[in-house]
Amino acid sequence: MGNVHVLDHPLIQHKLTYIRDKHTGTKEFRELVDEVAALMAFEITRNFPLQEKTTETPMMEATTNVLAGKKVGLIPILRAGLGMVDGMLNLIPAARVGHVGMYRDPETLTPHEYYVKLPSDIEERELIVLDPMLATGGSANDAIYSLKKRGARQIRLMCLVGAPEGVEVIQNEHPDVDIFLAALDERLNDDGFIVPGLGDAGDRLYGTK
Ligand code: PRP
Repeated sequence: MGNVHVLDHPLIQHKLTYIRDKHTGTKEFRELVDEVAALMAFEITRNFPLQEKTTETPMMEATTNVLAGKKVGLIPILRAGLGMVDGMLNLIPAARVGHVGMYRDPETLTPHEYYVKLPSDIEERELIVLDPMLATGGSANDAIYSLKKRGARQIRLMCLVGAPEGVEVIQNEHPDVDIFLAALDERLNDDGFIVPGLGDAGDRLYGTK
């Protein structure tokens, strides 16, 4: 079963509080999501393999480390996942970015895929699926199936807040996928929103509604 990692770094937790705050406006919300995504990138890449490299420092020749050529693909789920891309690219600038468009019907909560555009070599890449919210898990679940159908082999899921219901869906359907969250919240309410949550991430990022 995929592991759930709650990234409890104090900077992540501090910024997440202001992301949750309903008084935080669009500009600040966007900046905070960007910053938290970068901090999460730092944690999610912690176990990336290294290889040794001989380097000439100004003092001597030394054996040092570089990343062992791991290719990364960032897969934001549109639209809200887009808010996490730039923060991730700050730390992983060579990553390719693929997009999966997924719209959750507000009545039925069923996800609908409306767009997919991926790097051609996704089977060779470590893919990180980005979405601020893991609510029922329907959107992330479908997005991951969609990636696997197209050849993806290594997938991680990174969300700001998750509900236990969504975590369970991903763990059952995709036991090979590790989940990284800034917080695991209490539950879903009757409208399928995470509580306490942060509201509708897409609307708050883009000032819609
Ligand atoms: C929201 C959110 C997730 C999804 C989570 O997207 O950004 O993608 O719902 O819900 P789930 O886990 O129950 O599927 P929404 O459909 O509102 O689209 P948006 O990102 O375009 O705002």
